[in-house]
Amino acid sequence: MSILLAPSILSADFSRLGETVEILDKAECDWIHVDVMDGSFVPPITFGAQAVASLRDKTKKPMDCHLMINHPETQVEMFRDAGADRLTVHIEACRHLHRVLQQIGKAGMKAGVAINPGTPVSLVEPVLKMVDLVLVMTVNPGWGGQKFIESCLDKVDAVRKMAPEHYVQVDGGVDLDTAPRLVSAGANVLVAGKYTFSGNPIEQLAKLRSECCTSA
Ligand code: DX5
Ligand code: ZN
Repeated sequence: MSILLAPSILSADFSRLGETVEILDKAECDWIHVDVMDGSFVPPITFGAQAVASLRDKTKKPMDCHLMINHPETQVEMFRDAGADRLTVHIEACRHLHRVLQQIGKAGMKAGVAINPGTPVSLVEPVLKMVDLVLVMTVNPGWGGQKFIESCLDKVDAVRKMAPEHYVQVDGGVDLDTAPRLVSAGANVLVAGKYTFSGNPIEQLAKLRSECCTSA
């Protein structure tokens, strides 16, 4: 199974986002993970479609937008127009999950569904055919740099068994210790924020890649 790396720009210096994405474009990584927070579904506010539009020409890599927002249906076409490639919405934020996933597909983007640490994996089963990615949060969403929640490893394993062909993405506390264990449990898309920017991102991602390849 090939492992994709998706560094999160949440932990980057927000005054230098353009340069950061240019650096990530040349680094050992596959997608650029954009954490969109609205101050309602989660307390912090980060960035939205306008930031994605500004960053779009800094990389050819897919922009993987993780929407930690209520009412994502109001944002879908704006993110499409901004150049987003994938939109992942939270099951806990969608009263009409099926309809929102249809809307993302109709807009021409890949759709993903995310579950918080306290949400049972069985809730994604009815929509598996509508998505190519299930995001298993391994921290509670809202902040970078939090401690990895060990019990989420079992959820990764359960999602992998339920969805053998999907991307199983993990997000929160991914580092050189947790990444190999997550890969063994079945994850194949690793989001890493604090880890990526706690040193030179090029070196950090190269180290993460070699760590995952040896364990996969
Ligand atoms: C958390 C975000 C994550 C965050 C992960 O709410 O969804 O993408 O950047 O950060 P780290 O890797 O620092 O735990
Ligand atoms: Zn994220």
